[in-house]
Amino acid sequence: MIQEYTAEHLFQGPIADEYDMLRQICPAAAEMSHRVGEFIGGWMRTYPYTHLNLLEIGCGTGITTAHLLAYRDRIEIVSVDNAPAMLAQARQNLAEALNSGHLHLIENDALSYLQSIPDSSFDIVASAYALHNFLDGYRSRVLEEVLRVLKPGGLFINGDRYAVDDAREHLKNTQEEVKGYFQVFLKMNRPDLLEQWIVHLFSDESEDHIMRLQLALDIMAKIGFRDIDLNFREGTNALVSAVKP
Ligand SMILES: C[S@@+](CC[C@H](N)C(=O)[O-])C[C@H]1O[C@@H](n2cnc3c(N)ncnc32)[C@H](O)[C@@H]1O
Repeated sequence: MIQEYTAEHLFQGPIADEYDMLRQICPAAAEMSHRVGEFIGGWMRTYPYTHLNLLEIGCGTGITTAHLLAYRDRIEIVSVDNAPAMLAQARQNLAEALNSGHLHLIENDALSYLQSIPDSSFDIVASAYALHNFLDGYRSRVLEEVLRVLKPGGLFINGDRYAVDDAREHLKNTQEEVKGYFQVFLKMNRPDLLEQWIVHLFSDESEDHIMRLQLALDIMAKIGFRDIDLNFREGTNALVSAVKP
């Protein structure tokens, strides 16, 4: 039986080796990476400190990290991921930032890494499309740790797949997603990837993973985040921000 605090390894094999396919089946994800970066740029203008530390959870191949690096003059970034195949691509894609010391990549699971760092270590914790992969209990523990490691006034920003609260509307959205997968992968004659992504979607949608928007916001409030805002919402894609009091 999977324990609710278990870190899973969902990104290995073809789905990880050819992760760039995501751009084709979910163009909204690439746009979200841009939105996460843009939001941080705006937020930083109101933040009183000049040199900031940012923790990125689940950096994958570095698609969102690349947007965070736009602020490398002010922000030092630590990005953590537990998938070696994803991190190998990130190392290639982000070689310049790694060599210049603006970025540190850590292979670890998000919760273990968070638990290893002291209180109030980061000004910003950012993530894109990682938290929806987590088991419910694990996700709540991660969010508790995020709050702990943020400095007072620090920002949590997450662009992710948040299930639509209305179950019928959510089902309709998911069915459209599945149709899109078939269109893209059958056109490419890649039934292997089609299978992998559909299996992955079943995991996202399962009862112990699905991240429903309103419940997710309520859990964040209960944990102690303040100024919880929904900054963007389109289908299942949402940009959520919150602050540590
Ligand atoms: C859908 S990908 C998103 C990657 C990247 N953030 C982006 O914007 O493209 C999710 C990433 O989260 C990572 N991940 C999932 N569970 C994790 C965990 N428990 N700890 C650390 N990383 C995790 C996966 O390995 C994967 O690279």
